[in-house]
Amino acid sequence: MAKIIAMMNQKGGVGKTTSSVNLAACLAVAEKRTLLIDLDPQGNGSLSIGLSKETFAGKNIYHALIGQIDIKDAIYHSELPCFDICPSDNNLSGAEIELVSLFARESKLKQAFKSIENDYDYIIIDCPPSLGLLTVNALNAAHSYIVPMQTEYLAMEGLAQLLNTVRLIRTSLNPSLELDGILLTMFDSRSGLHKQVVTEIKTHFGDTVFKTIIPRNVKLAECPSFGKPIILYDIESKGSEAYLALAKELILKERLKPSVPVKEKVAVEKVTDEESLMNSLPNLEKINLDEPPIFEQ
Ligand SMILES: Nc1ncnc2c1ncn2[C@@H]1O[C@H](COP(=O)(O)OP(=O)(O)O)[C@@H](O)[C@H]1O
Ligand SMILES: [Mg+2]
Repeated sequence: MAKIIAMMNQKGGVGKTTSSVNLAACLAVAEKRTLLIDLDPQGNGSLSIGLSKETFAGKNIYHALIGQIDIKDAIYHSELPCFDICPSDNNLSGAEIELVSLFARESKLKQAFKSIENDYDYIIIDCPPSLGLLTVNALNAAHSYIVPMQTEYLAMEGLAQLLNTVRLIRTSLNPSLELDGILLTMFDSRSGLHKQVVTEIKTHFGDTVFKTIIPRNVKLAECPSFGKPIILYDIESKGSEAYLALAKELILKERLKPSVPVKEKVAVEKVTDEESLMNSLPNLEKINLDEPPIFEQ
């Protein structure tokens, strides 16, 4: 069964799409059957691997989410064997509104995955830059999540809101949702500020930060316009090296996990009323960042 990972951060421009596309491609190179789900109406991930909008206009993640088609019919092969994509376009922005009136609206993606979860080793979901219904669907369908963070000033700003959403999802919908790690992106080793931010985030989050740090690398910014993931665009670039290392770290982390949980999972309080989850999403800053947040694993 596929391990389903949501790449999420409600901030835009932190490297979600770049990391989703390139991590997925590197997992595929390691012969892991990988599916990338583009869950952002901007559709940048879909274009980044060279699909043209016309190809998938009638059949994409939007049609699968609203139940018009089986997700199998919205999956396209990429240039790399083992690497498939379920694309999106701006129709998906309407889905957020259309889904509201549907029964079990927060479980649509989870339902859709049922017909394909045995066809892949990894499913990576590139989330939109918001904590709305699409991201809720991603976190409900996922086994784990990765939070890309730019190594810039105010990197941790907005994190309280993100963690609060994750907590609500855990208590109401998906108690076993785990954090794979925080992924530091666009790191410039010549910048004192970047180094300071890395130290600060590592102090705060310890082992939950991936050892692999993604450097700022112009090739990573260039490759989407050629419709190629970094490993097909420039295998020798620092960007390729970094995402290959990340894929390896993720695979090894999975292998090292105890097959029996070390400690019993703490029983979670069930929010029975789904409304209270959805209504509480916009509530901000419930977690005090002065106290380091604790990730339940
Ligand atoms: N490591 C990197 N080095 C250089 N540019 C990057 C890197 N990661 C992302 N970018 C560029 O930064 C911009 C935002 O990245 P993106 O992955 O689209 O973020 P998000 O999906 O979180 O909005 C894009 O133009 C992308 O090409
Ligand atoms: Mg994006």
